[in-house]
Amino acid sequence: MDQQTPTRPDARPIPETQRRAQPRAVIAGTGGYLPEAAVSNDELSRTVDTSDAWIRERTGIGQRHIAAPHETCAFMATRAAERALAAAGMQAAEVDAILLATATPDEAFPATALRVQAALGAGGFGFDLSAACSGFIYGLATAEAMIAAGRIRTALVIGSEVYSRIMNWQDRGTCVLFGDGAGAVVLRAGQAGAGLPGILSVHLHSDGRLGDILYVDGAVGRRDKPGHLVMNGREVFRHAVTRLSETVEEALAANGLDKSAIDWLVPHQANKRIIDAIGKRLGLPAERVVTTVERHANTSAASVPLALDEAVRDGRIKPGDLVLMEALGGGLTWGSALARM
Ligand code: UT7
Repeated sequence: MDQQTPTRPDARPIPETQRRAQPRAVIAGTGGYLPEAAVSNDELSRTVDTSDAWIRERTGIGQRHIAAPHETCAFMATRAAERALAAAGMQAAEVDAILLATATPDEAFPATALRVQAALGAGGFGFDLSAACSGFIYGLATAEAMIAAGRIRTALVIGSEVYSRIMNWQDRGTCVLFGDGAGAVVLRAGQAGAGLPGILSVHLHSDGRLGDILYVDGAVGRRDKPGHLVMNGREVFRHAVTRLSETVEEALAANGLDKSAIDWLVPHQANKRIIDAIGKRLGLPAERVVTTVERHANTSAASVPLALDEAVRDGRIKPGDLVLMEALGGGLTWGSALARM
C-alpha cells in the first residue's frame, strides 16, 4: 500500500479486525421520485401516429411521467436519495459513496453523483455509472462489492433518467415507451448469516456485439448531436426474454434455491409481455410480480429501484422477503440481484 496516501477523514475505513468477518450489504431504505407531469397514451396520440390500444396491447403502458425543465437528473436523484435516507433513518453525512446510474447525466462532468453529493451535503466519494437500463443492477453490484470488501460501510445507489430529452418525438417506435424518474436505495454494512437480510448474489453480463440494436446516436457535450435513442424493438425483445430468463435461473442456482423460494420479482419495467414471461418462468402469480410499467413506462436505470420503493412503501414487500431483481438494456447489458429484505 502507498504509505504517502493520506487517510480520508470522511471515508471511515473499517478496522482490520472487523474486516475479516465479511459484511453483507443490506438494503436499509428505498426512495423514489417521479416528475409531476404525466402524459397519457391518448395525449401522445395527438402528436404522433399511435393509439392507446396499440401501446397498451403491445407494452402494457398507459402513461409516462415527463420531467419539467427544473426536474433534472440530479434534482430527481437528490429527491429519491433524500427519501431513501429518511426511510433508513440515516443522515447524508453517514454516506461513504454515491453511485448514480444514468444514461442522461446533466453534464459530461462533474458526475451527476457529485451534484447529488453537494445537494445532500454528503461526504465520501461518488461517481456515475453507464449501463443503460441495467445501470441500477450494475450500481448495486459495485456498491455491494465495496461493502463486502470492507472499503465502505454505507452507499447510496441511485438510478435517475430523463429519457424524454433523448427521445426522437417523431419516432412512434420508441417515444411511446419511455418515461422519466429516479429511484434510490441505501446500502449499509450488516452481518452475514443464514436468514439475515442483505444482498445474497449479483450477476452481471454484457455483449458489446449487440450494441447496434439499442443505442443513443450522439452524446452529452456534443452540441451538434446530443443524440436520440434508436432501437430495434423486436430484436431487443427477443434477447430480453432469453437473457433475463437465463439470469434469473443463474441467481437461483448460485444460491441453491428453488424458484418457489422467491417472494417477489422486481423486474425492469420495459414491457408487460417481457415481465409476464419472466414471472411465468419463475412460476410466480402476477400478484407477486411488482409491475409499474402501466404508470411509469420504461424509466431505464430508475425502473427497478422505483418499483422496489413502491412495493416496500405500500407494504407488499416486508422484512425477510426474498426479492429477485433483474434488468436488461442497451449494450447489451443485463443482470440480476437477489436480496433478502
Ligand atoms: O429497456 C430496454 C429494453 N427494451 C425493451 O425491452 C423493449 C423490447 N421491445 C419491445 O418491447 C417491443 O418490441 C416494442 C413494444 C418496442 C414493439 O412491439 P412489437 O410487438 O415488437 O412491434 P413491432 O416493432 O414488430 O411493430 C409492429 C407494428 C409495425 O407496423 P407494421 O410494420 O407491422 O405495419 C410498427 O410500425 O406496429 C407498428 N408500430 C406502432 N403502431 C402504433 C410501432 N410502434 C407503434 C406505435 N403505435 N407506437
